[in-house]
Amino acid sequence: MSRNSLTLLGLLALVTLCCEKKEGGTTSPAPGSGTGTQASSGSAGAPPSTGNVHAATPAPPGTPLAPGSGGAEGDVVLIGEVGSLTGPEASFGISTRNGIELAVNQANASGGVKGKKIAVRVYDDQSKPEEAANAATRLINQDHVKVILGEVASTNSLAMAQKAQPAGVPMISPSSTNPKVTQVGNYIFRVCFIDPFQGFVMAKFSHENLKVKRAAVLKDQKSDYSLGLTEYFTRTFTEMGGKIVTTEAYAKGDSDFRAQLTAIKGQKPDAIYIPGYYTDVGIIARQARELGIPKKVPLLGGDGWRSEKLFELGGSAIEGSYFSDHYSPDNPSPIVQKFIAEYKQAYGSVPDSLAGLGYDSARVAIAAMKKAPDLSGPAIRDAIAQTKDFPGVAGTISLDENRNAVKPAVVLQVEDGKLKYMTTISP
Ligand code: PHE
Repeated sequence: MSRNSLTLLGLLALVTLCCEKKEGGTTSPAPGSGTGTQASSGSAGAPPSTGNVHAATPAPPGTPLAPGSGGAEGDVVLIGEVGSLTGPEASFGISTRNGIELAVNQANASGGVKGKKIAVRVYDDQSKPEEAANAATRLINQDHVKVILGEVASTNSLAMAQKAQPAGVPMISPSSTNPKVTQVGNYIFRVCFIDPFQGFVMAKFSHENLKVKRAAVLKDQKSDYSLGLTEYFTRTFTEMGGKIVTTEAYAKGDSDFRAQLTAIKGQKPDAIYIPGYYTDVGIIARQARELGIPKKVPLLGGDGWRSEKLFELGGSAIEGSYFSDHYSPDNPSPIVQKFIAEYKQAYGSVPDSLAGLGYDSARVAIAAMKKAPDLSGPAIRDAIAQTKDFPGVAGTISLDENRNAVKPAVVLQVEDGKLKYMTTISP
């Protein structure tokens, strides 16, 4: 599809991007909008909404929940999205939103769902779990969406799942990898692998490829994702005969990691596993090198490192580090290269794994809505649950009985401010 037709679709407001309403009542589009998305609120046949996520208050007691069946019909099928469009995880939310928007625009260009166009209502949760929960509540009770897409960070997805499950509204996380997310219940799905596997991947890669014998771990104690990966990496690395010399902790948003890094330095590890998000990891890398932890001690991480900001924040300190991820743009497969070309045309950059998984999550949701006999919550849920051999850009998606996708991971290295594909590891 050409850039023009994508833009035109956006201008027709087939995708509704809710605005962030500032105190005082002026609305401004969420960051990164304007690439084929009409920023507006309450349009596209949806019930009026201020889009004010700051006041995403739950509906008053007694308000009936919409199990994905009633509410805004009109000429559109409304789906919901919750993402971190601002805050320390902003690049996660922005990439994901672009991927979802591209999938929806393409689906609308080829007829939509059951003769209707698809619209997306997006809420910014500012990278906070409480806001993610409030946004999910609004999507369910006020916007009456058919499906919810989101979040990236596992802690935020867990908060949303607690709302979606009892309401009977299907939710698909594009990229939350902590096992607990889909354990909330049978309406909660994901299109990515889970962290017991991701922890195994870096344990195997570091032990076998890098010959790491003694590793230190630095975990974010406020993140379900980080705590899970710490546990799974530690288990496999130890089983393989490696030794964890120390495990230190920080809390998301800290700015001084020197005490923990000094303790780690004292143990002389061969490598340091840091299963955090890019904002913290970039600063940790700089402080580690400033404290004299030598470059020959690589930093290792997981998908949470994936952001262009990692290079800015980490600078030369992050060079030579390795992390596991969902997809590599170097993958020559035609489906990946077609997606990259279309994404570049629409957004002007090479899509990262968040964009790829956002795209996949929307396509799985749309395919399920097409296949379901009707657009009720149970019918869509059942159709999503049957997803099998679905050709995703971040790997083929078959959902298992626990509503998780089982697929390979890639290991990437930071080299010259870019990512270099190292290897693919299968479950
Ligand atoms: N897997 C991370 C989590 O569960 C989120 C993430 C996915 C971050 C992919 C970056 C890339 O919290």
